[in-house]
Amino acid sequence: MSLSRRALVSSFAAFATAALSRPALAGDKGSGGPLKPGQPVTPAAPVATGPFVLPALPYADTDLAPVISQSTIGFHYGKHHQGYVTKLNELVAGKDWASKPLDEVMKATYGSDNVGIYNNSAQVWNHTFYWGSMKKGGGGAPAGKLADAIKTSFGDFEAFKKEFAQAATTQFGAGWAWLVLGTDGKLKVTKTANADNPIVLGQGKPLLTIDVWEHAYYLDYQNKRGDYVAAWIEKVANWSFAESQLG
Ligand SMILES: [Fe+2]
Repeated sequence: MSLSRRALVSSFAAFATAALSRPALAGDKGSGGPLKPGQPVTPAAPVATGPFVLPALPYADTDLAPVISQSTIGFHYGKHHQGYVTKLNELVAGKDWASKPLDEVMKATYGSDNVGIYNNSAQVWNHTFYWGSMKKGGGGAPAGKLADAIKTSFGDFEAFKKEFAQAATTQFGAGWAWLVLGTDGKLKVTKTANADNPIVLGQGKPLLTIDVWEHAYYLDYQNKRGDYVAAWIEKVANWSFAESQLG
């Protein structure tokens, strides 16, 4: 196991930091063959087909049920997230991008002619951040530094939850809602479309995100995005991860 690989599995904050800023690790896990509903997503053997890799999930694929089912994670992580990694590797093959850290690729290609590289690199980044934004037994209310920052910025936790849920449910079409540390030092809620995120848009530093693309919830909630968002906030939101991103 390489040092970076050990960092990935030793703690989740390390996982997110390392996975979102570095290029490929030969020992990282990729996804296996065709996935069937309910099939565990952890592959038996690592698959590394290019410089970028699918980071390991920080929990078992059953840990977020019933808020997010094993089947949803199987497709979302095992097929969609893996698909972005695979496509990105195809697009950067033989190019300088292949040796750059993921976040550097994403920022450098935003708004450029390299639309495919941007979309896929940003989606790899966003999804890795999304898996970190959830945990088994999450939800409830944050404590400590994050709780204080939320109170200062939103008045109280209930006001924040309302604003975050509103952003997640009203994002038109595919996208994301975020809790962000703004450049003014205050927390704020934002929403972004498709692959965009607060980093490329200059909205601040991401602390937490919820994926509101239909592939994130349709198997479990069909068209009821609001139910997914409410359950996500109450049951799986990872406040300690968000606090760790404050720095
Ligand atoms: Fe997604």
